[in-house]
Amino acid sequence: MSILQTLILFSFLLSASHAAVQDFCVADLSAPEGPAGYSCKKVSAVTVNDFVFSGLGVAGNTSNLIKAAVTTAFVNQFPGLNGLGISLARLDIAPGGVIPLHTHPGGSEVLLVLQGTICAGFISSSANTVYLKTLNKGDSMIFPQGLLHFQLNSGKGPALAIVSFSSPSPGLQIVDFALFANNFPSELVEATTFLDDAQVKKLKGVLGGTG
Ligand SMILES: *[C@@H]1O[C@H](CO)[C@@H](O)[C@H](O)[C@H]1NC(C)=O
Repeated sequence: MSILQTLILFSFLLSASHAAVQDFCVADLSAPEGPAGYSCKKVSAVTVNDFVFSGLGVAGNTSNLIKAAVTTAFVNQFPGLNGLGISLARLDIAPGGVIPLHTHPGGSEVLLVLQGTICAGFISSSANTVYLKTLNKGDSMIFPQGLLHFQLNSGKGPALAIVSFSSPSPGLQIVDFALFANNFPSELVEATTFLDDAQVKKLKGVLGGTG
């Protein structure tokens, strides 16, 4: 192959790979979500509203067991995030409230406290080391992808934080709900956690589990 032929081929490959780069891929929420996200809505159907989400201005309802609310701006609520590796959520935590021990399998998190005082922490998977900090207004903390973590209101008034994720669909699995809010048979919960029958039955009662 001559140098010229090689150059032409190379520039064709470059331009071909460029042609595949899109400005955005707004989620088509009517199609199923795959490992790489949603398929793209037709560009002609995209509007500015796909890139705007107004839901984080409103406090979540904290009249619940955990006295806290997580309002998500994940791809399902905010389709313009699809494919961009980012998302947001708002945490409202009433006095005495907590976002119980949980994990986001799909992304790392960074939290910014806007109001109140939050005791937050995560646990490493390599050594089960606990990293704890009391955070005040203006403080930020990172929770690495997949690691168990929590946020607890340790102040006297309401706490508010904004969190952002390195995924449009980071997921949220709360340990207590995974163990006690479903039909995981009590005997197996006890056998796999070393908790006793009374504790497991009590928590299933509180969290609405069966079995
Ligand atoms: C908050 O949730 C509680 C419990 O579900 C409900 O009774 C109450 O009406 C809700 N408050 C608002 C403002 O939606």
